[in-house]
Amino acid sequence: MSEGYDPGCAVLSVHNLTKSFQGVDGPVPVLRGVSLNLGPGETLALTGESGSGKSTLLHLIGGLEQADSGTIDIDGTRLTGLSDRGRATLRRGTVGVIFQQFNLIPSLTVAENIAFQARLAGRYDRGVTADLADKLGLTAQLRKYPEQLSGGQQQRVAIARTLAARPRLVLADEPTGNLDEDTALRVLETLCDLAKETRSGLLMVTHSVQLASKLDRRLHLRSGVIT
Ligand SMILES: Nc1ncnc2c1ncn2[C@@H]1O[C@H](COP(=O)(O)OP(=O)(O)OP(=O)(O)O)[C@@H](O)[C@H]1O
Ligand SMILES: [Mg+2]
Repeated sequence: MSEGYDPGCAVLSVHNLTKSFQGVDGPVPVLRGVSLNLGPGETLALTGESGSGKSTLLHLIGGLEQADSGTIDIDGTRLTGLSDRGRATLRRGTVGVIFQQFNLIPSLTVAENIAFQARLAGRYDRGVTADLADKLGLTAQLRKYPEQLSGGQQQRVAIARTLAARPRLVLADEPTGNLDEDTALRVLETLCDLAKETRSGLLMVTHSVQLASKLDRRLHLRSGVIT
């Protein structure tokens, strides 16, 4: 176990995770024994060149794909032993994902999109939602529909939607990739503040050294291992 954490206390504990994809000449290893831990309220930046496996790692932790071997524990539950249904439940209630595709629901307003996941998780709170919309600069957009928003506004709605459900673990894949520098920094601050406030963990992929430096810890993925 890396860094000497007690995995029982960790929000996220990944041990010796491996994943290969089928290539033309057989399996191509993408992750070759990745281990990491994240404590309550801790924020971690994951960097690595394009194709190094960052999104793959987030997909495995988010329960969207299955690892070949190794273990993932989220808030004391072993994800790697769960059925599809169990993984879906954990995803709904415990893990919040912010991926590069926003997947907003086009027929719902911004306000409804933000509330949707929180309602599914049974944690909708009007005050929390309004506060998030304010912090993410979305208050004026609440009655609009996703198609009426810019790419950066849609990205912030996707972030608000995830945070409104107050997950124990937030997985974010370049969550500020569509934002200008100042807005990106503000959004990152909101993500970090919320992690501290709610003692949740944040694992964020970023290509930006500047953004990575704002987080508590940084890990680099190279040739399928953490360096
Ligand atoms: N479903 C899949 N089937 C086959 N190969 C895949 C699949 N998903 C990812 N890969 C391969 O795994 C490797 C890692 O991909 P991944 O998307 O995790 O990289 P990344 O670090 O997120 O890159 P980027 O910074 O460009 O987003 C790549 O070589 C990619 O082609
Ligand atoms: Mg990626």
